[in-house]
Amino acid sequence: METSTLPKLHDAAKDFMPINGTDYLELYVSNSKQAAHFYKTAFGFQSLAYAGLETGLKDRESYVVVQDKIRLVLTSPLKSGTDIGRHIDQHGDGVKVVALWVDDATYAYNTAIEKGAKSYMEPQTEEDENGKVVRSGIYTYGETVHIFVERKEYSGIFMPGYKKWETPYYNPESVGLKYVDHMVGNVGWNKMNYWVDFYENVLGFVNILSFDDNDISTEYTALMSKVMSNGNGRIKFPINEPAEGKKKSQVEEYLDFYEGEGVQHIAVATDDIITTVKQLRSRGVEFLRVPDTYYEAVTDRVGEIDEDIAPLRELGILVDRDDEGYLLQIFTRPVEPRPTMFFEIIQRKGAQSFGKGNFKALFEAIEREQEVRGTLH
Ligand code: FE2
Repeated sequence: METSTLPKLHDAAKDFMPINGTDYLELYVSNSKQAAHFYKTAFGFQSLAYAGLETGLKDRESYVVVQDKIRLVLTSPLKSGTDIGRHIDQHGDGVKVVALWVDDATYAYNTAIEKGAKSYMEPQTEEDENGKVVRSGIYTYGETVHIFVERKEYSGIFMPGYKKWETPYYNPESVGLKYVDHMVGNVGWNKMNYWVDFYENVLGFVNILSFDDNDISTEYTALMSKVMSNGNGRIKFPINEPAEGKKKSQVEEYLDFYEGEGVQHIAVATDDIITTVKQLRSRGVEFLRVPDTYYEAVTDRVGEIDEDIAPLRELGILVDRDDEGYLLQIFTRPVEPRPTMFFEIIQRKGAQSFGKGNFKALFEAIEREQEVRGTLH
């Protein structure tokens, strides 16, 4: 078992792939208009931009919603026989693009290709009256892609090709979600180290934490995970693979239902998880529940924390501690019909880890749901 809690981030001078942060996440969904309404109403996003028939597109429509630094692009096809439609038919709704904000999308692309990445999109420049955006793209696990976005010469609301999305419907208030903290990929059997090598070699990431099946197993299911971070620590991608257990692992369930490798969860940060989760719950977001007994032992396990235990217990918020501090987290149920992608809400109070102390309680909660779905066998 190998674990370390301190990220050993590389020195900026040696970082051959500087990344400023997550630029946007694009989800291919079966009904972008309704999905946008859901992310606004339930998750507190605001309308930002639109591209579709009204902007001259013939084959697809995208709604862009925003909350602080998080931008979601929700895209659906407008006709049959498109790559987007085929993607949705195979995978259901899911994340297609994890866009990375860079200063030079041509350099990022050329470097990644030289180091062995498979091309998704050669560098292309899009322009409008607000300037230009250069984008390029490479494949990662499954059909998921990374698009490098260079926007230093752009002052518009999102990107050329989009117009401001004006809607008479009110923009629900933010629930306090601020930025993408980390984003987890589920990969196939024995593929974790392949993708760890990919992120190291192609994008210059480092492995900052590892979990094996001794850390992450319950009576039934097991998984292994390694957390990859870019040089400045703004991008963190844990990568999970299934491990043999008595019954079907949750990662395996994901791979079966997504029909391939893909994004398992998007963790979004808040400064006040109690208020955020209260809001989300009141707007209909469904969360995984751990048994009440979790809270009987929580103070013994994590020590003193600033928050009262009562609201954490009431809302089902989990707590974990590492050498640097503690964190509060909670996981939604899947946000589409297939038991695939879900969200995590996380508030860090010093801790830089991922809630290892909660894995067992959490995975048992997932297994109870798998049992109901009839997929725990
Ligand atoms: Fe997570």
